[in-house]
Amino acid sequence: MYLNPEARLRGGPTAPAWDGAARAFHAGLPGYAPTPLAELPDLAAELGVGRVLVKDESSRLGLSAFKILGASWAVARLLADRFGLAGPVGTEPLRAAVTREPVVLTTATDGNHGRALARMARLVGAHAYVFVPEVLQQGVVDLIAEEGATIERVDGDYDEAVRRAAKYAAHTGAELVQDTAWDGYERVPAWIVDGYRTLAAEIDECATPDLVVVPAGVGSLAQAVVTHYRGRAHVVTVEPDSADCVRRSLIAGQRVRVRTGVTSMAGLNCGTPSSAAWPHLLAGLSGAVAVGEGQVATAVADLAGLGVAAGPCGAAALAGVRRLPLDRLGLDRTATVVLLSTEGPPPTPGTT
Ligand SMILES: Cc1ncc(COP(=O)(O)O)c(C=O)c1O
Repeated sequence: MYLNPEARLRGGPTAPAWDGAARAFHAGLPGYAPTPLAELPDLAAELGVGRVLVKDESSRLGLSAFKILGASWAVARLLADRFGLAGPVGTEPLRAAVTREPVVLTTATDGNHGRALARMARLVGAHAYVFVPEVLQQGVVDLIAEEGATIERVDGDYDEAVRRAAKYAAHTGAELVQDTAWDGYERVPAWIVDGYRTLAAEIDECATPDLVVVPAGVGSLAQAVVTHYRGRAHVVTVEPDSADCVRRSLIAGQRVRVRTGVTSMAGLNCGTPSSAAWPHLLAGLSGAVAVGEGQVATAVADLAGLGVAAGPCGAAALAGVRRLPLDRLGLDRTATVVLLSTEGPPPTPGTT
């Protein structure tokens, strides 16, 4: 475990102020509604805090994970730029522009981001070309294909899929919509992070957290949360112990790559933190925890018993907070803890 309780006070690098434009855009998408924030007193008693609230992303804009918040806003900003459309842009003008000049959107994914991008591509009439790592479960691949995307399975892990998507974009002129940043590729990931903040803005309308627990893959969602709660709340990440690149990087004091394998937490199966997220995570995270498969399976079952349908990535937040020494973060019976349950149980292909 990595702990840095002072981080909340120090905060991270200043980020551009959030103007709420992403939230207004999301509110115009078909089926938008803030996702539930479920209060679970049994968990508050177990953890010895005042309140535990679970932000349940299992039904976000018709998909089973939060990721479409980032993909949709990035696609809107990217296409508005490409076609010179001014002002806040809804999906109709984007669709009209894509009808005149077809666009291919490409990305790599370990599941949810690719599905979200494919859904957004469909909404604006673009085509999605999605690269997936060799270990991604076929059921997840089928869900992305159901959105009309072309899928290419690469001979390698998530990082390799990212390299292949970037190469494909460079060679074909497709627009790369990747949810992680590296040197020279920062504009689109910044929009994605901006889009994720809708989730935190929704929490603000209902609660004032002292701790937010965030499942992390490359750390872009954690970047959004750290930026949002700068100086106001502790933020702690949770990763699979087989893909804990954020935690290991924090311990090393620099970004490190870890070799990933297979985990039920497919969305968190990433080997390298986003370069744009990294300075925010290093300065702003109060902790980083790794969890095992058994701990997550227990958390999935416990949340189900309390009426929250969480998939393995979503339940990782509960598995992680259970391992945290909350007293070392100064959290007691007056504290409000928010767990981000970032996905619901995996849907069965053909049923959505
Ligand atoms: C369900 C779920 N939770 C959390 C994450 C982690 O987000 P990030 O990669 O930005 O850390 C992902 C990423 O795909 C995800 O699919």
